[in-house]
Amino acid sequence: MKEKNSARFFRALQDAPWYGDFLAPVTEELLQLPEEARILDVGCGPGKLMEEVLKGGMYRFTGADINREMLQEARSRPRLRDVALVPLEKGAPLPFREGEFDAVVFCSLLFLLEEPLFLLGEALRLLPSGGKIFILTPSGKRSPLLPGAALLRPVNAGFWLWRKATRGRGAKWLGNSPPEKWAAANGLKYSRRLVFKELAVLEILEK
Ligand SMILES: C[S@@+](CC[C@H](N)C(=O)[O-])C[C@H]1O[C@@H](n2cnc3c(N)ncnc32)[C@H](O)[C@@H]1O
Repeated sequence: MKEKNSARFFRALQDAPWYGDFLAPVTEELLQLPEEARILDVGCGPGKLMEEVLKGGMYRFTGADINREMLQEARSRPRLRDVALVPLEKGAPLPFREGEFDAVVFCSLLFLLEEPLFLLGEALRLLPSGGKIFILTPSGKRSPLLPGAALLRPVNAGFWLWRKATRGRGAKWLGNSPPEKWAAANGLKYSRRLVFKELAVLEILEK
């Protein structure tokens, strides 16, 4: 019941327009990949990112999540009717073969985990040379474009809840930059930029 409620809550959050703006930098990056690209969305939740990208092309997506209720929410999106949705076991290796994907995406996931480098290692295993990892994480920053007065308006409860819930861990992630150090240790190309009015950071690693 708890999993079902959190999946419903997260579906409503994802379907708010601002959440599409948060995901947009990743959507735009993925839409630059060739249409035959095979993309794995780890921790896909109720599938908003896949839905957004599939509006722009016939990508070969796989969504994966440890929460089966999240996958059910994803399945209920008409565009995801034929997408592979795979349940995962927490802490277990990802159930895919070496080189099976051209890109692996983590949106709002790694910064929540105690051992994010385990899943990064798994992503690397699944990619061929030239494959890419995209990591989108709330930055914990206060946007210069959201002046204090905006806080007084009832803009969008979901947005402010998201800000509050992600601020601490997001700032820690941005400060430590775990993928940057890991990329250097593994000989990967690394870049990052602030996106979504500086409220999020997009990191891209290339094998
Ligand atoms: C904050 S939500 C983000 C969902 C989606 N990626 C997005 O950006 O809207 C985190 C998701 O990751 C899933 N998750 C948590 N730990 C996970 C793990 N170890 N492996 C895979 N998915 C996990 C949760 O069930 C949840 O659906």
